[in-house]
Amino acid sequence: MGRAKSHKQTNRSSLPGPTDKRIDALLLLLAENTTIVISGAQIAKEIGVRRQTVWRWIETLRAAGVKVKGHPRSGYHIERVPDILAPQLLARRLHGVSLGKRMFHFFKTESTNTVAMHLGEEGDPHGTVVIAEEQTAGRGRAGHSWISEKSAGICVSILLRPQISPMHAPALTLAIGLAARDAIAEETGLSPDIRWPNDVMLNGKKVCGILTEMQAEPDRIHFAVAGIGMNVNQSKMPGQLAGIATSLRMETGRVHSRLEALARLLRHADRYYNQFIAEGAGPILRRFAAVSSYGEGKRVRITTSKEIFEGTTAGLEPTGILRVKRGDGRIESVISGSVAEAE
Ligand code: BTN
Repeated sequence: MGRAKSHKQTNRSSLPGPTDKRIDALLLLLAENTTIVISGAQIAKEIGVRRQTVWRWIETLRAAGVKVKGHPRSGYHIERVPDILAPQLLARRLHGVSLGKRMFHFFKTESTNTVAMHLGEEGDPHGTVVIAEEQTAGRGRAGHSWISEKSAGICVSILLRPQISPMHAPALTLAIGLAARDAIAEETGLSPDIRWPNDVMLNGKKVCGILTEMQAEPDRIHFAVAGIGMNVNQSKMPGQLAGIATSLRMETGRVHSRLEALARLLRHADRYYNQFIAEGAGPILRRFAAVSSYGEGKRVRITTSKEIFEGTTAGLEPTGILRVKRGDGRIESVISGSVAEAE
């Protein structure tokens, strides 16, 4: 949903592991049979568990907001496809997409980026996707935390194994931002802006943030994790975020399918990633210039670890780094730091 400074630690061991694949199968079974009541016994047989387990998992789904009707004796049904970001429901929307061939779903975890970084270290393949309905210690850029209401937004991390040098990582970060921007444009019919490097903005407020982390040597990236937090169905933003953050629902006045929005995001991320690997940063930089008001001629305030200064944006370097012209004419290259529109 947004960012707030926090140093809170979370006890990983108290959190549940990834969602059992058979819960995923249960969701798919219910979703594919929205017009009929399925008995507990039939569900148990189809997904290979005992009837008591079906009952327990139905309660888990209810707690996650899935409106399951019925009870153990009569059987269960749902009226519409649940908006849970379950891998099997998602996979049906990702034909021909190489990202998401392997997916991990959590009802609750510390941070999908933390999980994906561990998977990266353990050798999981390129394109592995980690999704959470809720994060207890979501991380944002510059040491901020990322707070997200349960099942209201999208918390997803994508494990990438690009064979590039870390020098080219900024363009990769831009590519994922473009994917999020295009997904939001497609979902809402609006025209989102991108605040360099990859905050997606609607009407001047942030709707999506991205944290890219990587493990690299000076000349080679071992793997990168792109963690995306998108505000989808929040109906308001809490306290300090109210003036600076928004959601798709708040901007369009309607509830959106998170499943559909996530599928769009992964499809666009796949497309931009493949283009970046095949053609280099050129097309990414041109697209950024076309859709972001921050590339050129924008008055901005830059906050780095060393200083805060104002200037006017003066295009991107070939690697994707932002150039900012100071009042005295000097050009600064902004490698990291936060960018805000100057007042
Ligand atoms: C920012 O704008 O500061 C970046 C926010 C990134 C948040 C996402 S939510 C999914 C993934 N897991 C995390 O802990 N962070 C990213």
